[in-house]
Amino acid sequence: MAAATFGAANTTATLKEPAIQLRGFDGLRSSSSSSSNSLALTRHFGVFSLPTPRRLSTIKAVSTPVKPATETKRSKVEIIKEHSNFIRYPLNEELLTEAPNVNESAVQLIKFHGSYQQYNREERGGRSYSFMLRTKNPCGKVPNKLYLTMDDLADQFGIGTLRLTTRQTFQLHGVVKKDLKTVMSSIIHSMGSTLGACGDLNRNVLAPPAPLAKKDYLFAQQTAEDIAALLTPQSGFYYDMWVDGEKFMTAEAPEVVKARNDNSHGTNFPDSPEPIYGTQFLPRKFKIAVTVPGDNSVDILTNDIGVVVVSDENGEPQGFNIYVGGGMGRTHRMESTFPRLADPLGYVPKEDILYAIKAIVVTQRENGRRDDRRYSRMKYLIDSWGIEKFRDVVEQYYGKKFEQFRELPEWEFKSHLGWHEQGDGALFCGLHVDNGRVGGKMKTTLREVIEKYNLDVRITANQNIVLCGIKKAWKRPITTTLAQAGLLQPKYVDPLNLTAMACPAFPLCPLAITEAERGIPDILKRVRAVFEKVGLKYNESVVIRVTGCPNGCARPYMAELGLVGDGPNSYQIWLGGAPNQTVLARTFLNKVKVQDLENVFEPLFYHWKRRRQSKESFGDFTNRVVSYYSIPYF
Ligand code: HEM
Ligand code: SF4
Repeated sequence: MAAATFGAANTTATLKEPAIQLRGFDGLRSSSSSSSNSLALTRHFGVFSLPTPRRLSTIKAVSTPVKPATETKRSKVEIIKEHSNFIRYPLNEELLTEAPNVNESAVQLIKFHGSYQQYNREERGGRSYSFMLRTKNPCGKVPNKLYLTMDDLADQFGIGTLRLTTRQTFQLHGVVKKDLKTVMSSIIHSMGSTLGACGDLNRNVLAPPAPLAKKDYLFAQQTAEDIAALLTPQSGFYYDMWVDGEKFMTAEAPEVVKARNDNSHGTNFPDSPEPIYGTQFLPRKFKIAVTVPGDNSVDILTNDIGVVVVSDENGEPQGFNIYVGGGMGRTHRMESTFPRLADPLGYVPKEDILYAIKAIVVTQRENGRRDDRRYSRMKYLIDSWGIEKFRDVVEQYYGKKFEQFRELPEWEFKSHLGWHEQGDGALFCGLHVDNGRVGGKMKTTLREVIEKYNLDVRITANQNIVLCGIKKAWKRPITTTLAQAGLLQPKYVDPLNLTAMACPAFPLCPLAITEAERGIPDILKRVRAVFEKVGLKYNESVVIRVTGCPNGCARPYMAELGLVGDGPNSYQIWLGGAPNQTVLARTFLNKVKVQDLENVFEPLFYHWKRRRQSKESFGDFTNRVVSYYSIPYF
């Protein structure tokens, strides 16, 4: 019997089980080869050959291993960085003008300061510009004072809400240009920072947010903070601009300073104010996460570098396994861009970690593409070189061989939601916040609780918040107060919502093609309704992530069901991620109109319910039952 064929545009997906069909799906036509009980959904398009990424190098470190000194084309942003006097010109000047916005060069530079220029895409009659600010909080750590400051700033200068992001940071939307300095300096004076939260450098370093008094967790968090410090820009542009040159950096550990300044293997620009970054910084954003074995609360494989603490039999941390080359962003209709999972690189003893990280960063700095930003992430370098060559080059900068990758237990997604013992007599409480959007009564109540009990908080990589250091006697009153504001214990939240994420998309994101954050509540309700219709129980769940464009800010390519905006009110559907975020999803359908989603969901969930093997997750089921092959998207 012929198999049912699914697919549109760039993907054709075939269900290996003949009876699985997408009944009544609009805009897709039957193929003559399909049997009477199956609906073929394949469109036929011409095949284009797309360029494969080539490695081009442009920047020369002072004394790095030999490489050809070719002058090649550079992207516009490279020229802007070069002429910026370390991220100052023309941003300084542009900030002083009366205009509500800054010019194109300054738009690029202000990213390094942790801000994006935006405008409301739904307002008619001229653009009303504002700035989005993103903080940098290694491990998601937010001291009490900083939380209260961010809460005030959102009301006084923002749109009245705070957003907890997929990278354990805050985003504050809607700050107008004339208020930028006040807002930035308030954050800095509250021991916060936005330095390097966007731009071509190391972004916020992730680590599990749980405040557990366990050696491996503490060590992972300390390492994340040390890596963040190692890769913080040194040339002072940030403090010059926002606090008139006052230095507000906390004291750095001597081993961090030593590792940064070490140039025994030609990694540094010795006379530059930016010893690791030089004038050109990195070719593109760079993302690092640290975790402990088994805790994949940080989507470890989606990062440029993933670091995992390895301990001995007594629980003493000894070193780290390192993964490299993860990344989410891609571009529609360009199959030469793709999401990628990180590969194992090797193991290093704990005292070498900062040197190994620096060697990897420098390998990307020297060899990542700077001509076309679509191919500038380290994942493309590793893809074109292969991991062996990449490891060889990193080892030259590291000055040692990597040891054999140590065996690790299975990864688990740990949400850190609900009440838990910290292990030091206190409790912590993880709270689910839909899409990380803190507003209204939830915002007022969170503030009240955090202020009254003087709590530090942590942001999770799933857009949730953890309240830390709670005395046992406070548990009951805090639970009651939070519940009244809709901040419920996880057992009272729909399991679909607990793992779902969406990026902000409309109205402020300039790249959004369709809705994400504003659309996901309805999508989740519709999935729940389909679950009920096909007889799936309430406690069953599927990881659903939605983004308004293929950049993938809510990591949709790791979801069991990913929706990626590919047109007005339409989504590309991705299937096959795993509940523990270790498998990359694959494209299943393109251009599914939002009103037609049930036509896709229903047969999939129906057959998952009927045909899954014991405890088989939706992602595993679709990987077993659906076979995919790609054709170009046109
Ligand atoms: C080429 C452009 C971009 C790419 C490839 C990209 C990619 C990503 C990725 C993969 C993340 C996931 C966080 C993580 O790293 O673990 C992220 C986070 C984020 N990005 Fe982007 N991004 C781009 C541009 C933008 C723009 C223009 C905006 C809006 C102004 C934006 C807003 C965000 C937000 C809000 C988050 C946090 C997501 C959340 O919590 O929902 N991104 N970005
Ligand atoms: S995924 Fe696209 S639409 Fe969503 S925030 Fe990122 S850039 Fe904007």
